[in-house]
Order: sequence, then structure tokens, then C-alpha cells
Amino acid sequence: MFDFTTTATDKPTLYGELTDSLRALVAGEPDPVANMANAAALIFHALPDLNWAGFYRNREGELVLGPFQGKAACVRIAFGSGVCGTAAATRTVQRVADVHAFPGHIACDAASRSELVVPLVDANGVLLAVLDLDSPLPSRFDAEDEAGCVALAQVLTAALAA
Ligand code: SME
Repeated sequence: MFDFTTTATDKPTLYGELTDSLRALVAGEPDPVANMANAAALIFHALPDLNWAGFYRNREGELVLGPFQGKAACVRIAFGSGVCGTAAATRTVQRVADVHAFPGHIACDAASRSELVVPLVDANGVLLAVLDLDSPLPSRFDAEDEAGCVALAQVLTAALAA
């Protein structure tokens, strides 16, 4: 059994603990789907106010739904399309305070109001996947969430590329 508990009262501490937990969870396991599945579960249950947490994998230049927690979601997203496709095409973090104001946003879950998408790019510059977090709250994600999720993505990228 793996149970993440925390007494953290600030986000940097919470994300530091979560990053350590993720590192322990993926240690020694080479299977990418298993590692993404555990990462999605860890993140979904540890972070408050999420309605979706998971991955879209880069499958030959198209994003394809990977392990996640939340409602069933759209399976394929073209690079450049929506928030995830923009993160994949530009390889930059997309932190969207109001998804309704994002041109081309793809509404997989009507409850989603804000979104954070972090690209997972390996040491050779290859985009492996994107980490996608959705929240029913507007402006759920701030700069500390972004920094924390970038750290989580780095741990996972290292595990996926191992
Ligand atoms: N909203 C995303 C699509 C994926 S779902 O949120 C799970 C987007 O615009 O790319």
C-alpha cells in the first residue's frame, strides 16, 4: 500500500513532498504506463480541487490519451489544438486561468474551469507526453503550482526515459 499524507501548509512544501513520493513510487520501474498511472493517481488524490489529472502521450506526432484519473476524456488531440496540443506544439507550460477564454480549448469535462499542462521533454529534446491537470475552480493554478508540477514532470520524464 502506498499512502501519501502531508501536513504541509504551503505549496512549495506540499510539492516537495509530492515530488519525493513520486520519485520513490517510480524508482526501479521501467514501464512508462505503470509510472504514468501511479503518477496520475498520486497527483489526483494529493492536490485539492482537481477534476482530472493525467497524461496524453506523444504517439507519432499526435497526442493520445494515457493514464489518468477523472471522467473519460477525448482520446486524440492534434499538436497545436486546445491547451494540451498547444503545450505539445510549443513545448511550453500552459497555465490557463479561464479555459473558456482559451482559443480552441477542448472541453472533455464540462466542469473544468482552469487548466495546467506541462510538457515532458527528454534529454534528447523528444516530447514524450504532457501532464494535464484540470480544476473546476477558475484560476486554480498559480506560479507555485506550475513550479511544483514542472518538478513532478521532471521526475517522471527521467523515469520514462530510463
Ligand atoms: N482541455 C484539454 C483537453 C484534455 S481534457 O481537459 C482531459 C485541452 O484543451 O487540450
